[in-house]
Order: sequence, then C-alpha cells, then structure tokens
Amino acid sequence: MTGANSAVGTRLLTRLLESGRGDIRVVAGVRRQQAVDDLPQAAGMTPAIIDYDDPDSLIAALQGVECVVHLAGILFESKTSDYQTANVGTTRALIRAAQSTSVRHVVFISSLGADPRSPNGYFRSKGEAEQVVANSGIDATIIRTPLLLGPDTAGGRALLRSASQGTVRVLGGGAHRLRPLDIDDLCAAIAGCGERPVCGVRTLDLVGPTTLSYRDLLHQTAVRLGRQVAVKSTPVWLARLGAAVVGLTRSGGMTPTVIDVITSDEEVAQNADADLGIRLTPLSDTLAKLGDPAP
Ligand SMILES: NC(=O)c1ccc[n+]([C@@H]2O[C@H](COP(=O)([O-])OP(=O)(O)OC[C@H]3O[C@@H](n4cnc5c(N)ncnc54)[C@H](OP(=O)(O)O)[C@@H]3O)[C@@H](O)[C@H]2O)c1
Repeated sequence: MTGANSAVGTRLLTRLLESGRGDIRVVAGVRRQQAVDDLPQAAGMTPAIIDYDDPDSLIAALQGVECVVHLAGILFESKTSDYQTANVGTTRALIRAAQSTSVRHVVFISSLGADPRSPNGYFRSKGEAEQVVANSGIDATIIRTPLLLGPDTAGGRALLRSASQGTVRVLGGGAHRLRPLDIDDLCAAIAGCGERPVCGVRTLDLVGPTTLSYRDLLHQTAVRLGRQVAVKSTPVWLARLGAAVVGLTRSGGMTPTVIDVITSDEEVAQNADADLGIRLTPLSDTLAKLGDPAP
C-alpha cells in the first residue's frame, strides 16, 4: 500500500488488521519515519519507507507482494508537492518497480472526472496516472471516486466545520450535485479487489447511494449535529478570481483548479458497487460516523 498514512490508507489498514485474517500481510509504504510511528500498529503489517526517486526502495518494498494499492496522491498542491510529482510521478515510479517484481494486480484510486485531456490540471494528472496503470501490462482495477466522507477525510472535516457554524458561505451556493462515498465502502471495495483479482484492466466509477447538492449535504449534517445552518453564496467566478490573485504570490492551496474540482457535479453512468461486491452505506449512517467537529 502506498500512501499508507493517508485517510484511506489508515482506515484500510485498520480494517485489514482488525479482520483477524492471518493470511493477509500488508506492507505499508510511507515517506517518513514520523508517518511510520503514526500508523495503526499490529501483527501482519510491515512498514516500509519508500522514496519515489529511489527505485531500489520501491523494489525492496514490493518483494513478495501480490497486489499493490496505490493511494498516494493530492488535490491540494503545495510548495513541495505538485500534481505531476504526487499524482503522475509516484504512479510511474511505482509501476516501473512493480514491473520488475512479483506484483500481479494493481488497485489505483483515481477520481471521477479523471481524463488525460482535461483542461483541469488535477483531473488531467489523475487521467495520466490511469494511463500509466492501464498500459503497464499488469492486471489492474482503477476506481474513480467522488468526495470521500469519513472522520479523517479532508472532505468530512470541512463538512463538519461548515455545518457547525450558524452562517456559512459556500461556493456557488452549494448547488453542485454530489455522490459522497463512505470511506469504509471504498475500503471494502479495495479489500475485495485484493482478494478477488480480475484479469485485464477495468476502470470503475464507485459513488455513494445518494445524489444531493452540497447545500443539502450541509443541511443534513447540521441537523445531525442538532444545529441549523444558513447558507450564503460566494460566486464561483469570484472565488476563482480571488484564488488566481492569491496564486500570484503563493503556490498551492485553494487554486482555481481546486475550486473547479470541488464544484464539479459528480455524475456517473453506472455505479460499480455491484461489480465490486459491496453494499453501500446509507448517507445518514455515513454522516453519523463523522463524529463531532474538532474543537
Ligand atoms: N479524499 C477524497 O475525497 C478523494 C477523492 C477522490 C480521490 N481521492 C484519492 O484517493 C487517494 C487517497 O486520498 P486521501 O484523501 O486518503 O489522501 P490524504 O489523506 O490527503 O493523503 C495523501 C497521501 O499522499 C501522499 N503524498 C502527498 N504528496 C506526495 C508526493 N509528492 N509523493 C508521494 N506521496 C505523496 C501523502 O504522504 P505524506 O504524508 O508523506 O505527504 C499521503 O500518504 C488519493 O490518491 C486521492 O487523490 C481522494
């Protein structure tokens, strides 16, 4: 597993380790010792510090591995991490290493909207990474996901923060349509891929059971917290303009690219829950699992 310290990674690790399955061993790939110390610790998990610029570190981590789950990736760029490095470069380096080892299956977590020809840098990078995986010659499952909701996801934390305020300003009045996915459902799907690998390459859209606007999602979250939230609108064009101006002196953060991603409608032609053999968690249960906002 790459990005083992990510929100999805830690949840997936906990799930695998708690399953009590002695036959599943996990190599948890992270970039720093600090991340190793923060991982859920249990028998069956071996941490590995990997450096995507050092093929030997990747090859060493992949020794004896049958299935790789590639989670490392970003939406928010920073001074030290951009889409090409974090989303495309990591995938290239990992696949190159996997091609020289025993890896038989790759599970890659992508994003709805991924497209190598997209004018949006994030969607383009996820699309390019998908191509690297699909052309690797290794069997692969590419799962395109929407907004992920879980206690430790960035989306879940932002939702709780906003829903716990009396009045909140949201992009475009929160009119964009979402299909939020419970992080545990994604973890169940990934675990299933590891247990029941398929031949060839499949690209699947996996979304949550409910379609609703971000505005409605905020209201439902506020109700669960026993509160009411008044939603005001910041026009998307104004937010993009502000982000572009800020971007003249600062890199990363809330860029126009990110704004376009998080205000995109999440639509799919066909949901892959049945293909992946999972039962989707009702949205109300997912919201209940988010807990309370951080103090
Ligand atoms: N959360 C969502 O709503 C959502 C939606 C669609 C797709 N996804 C995709 O699902 C995957 C997991 O998401 P998440 O929310 O669980 O991630 P997350 O918590 O934000 O963690 C990001 C992970 O990527 C690693 N990373 C960041 N920059 C890197 C770089 N330059 N090189 C190598 N590793 C780097 C981080 O490692 P360090 O701690 O070392 O920086 C961390 O392990 C990601 O690929 C993400 O794009 C997530």
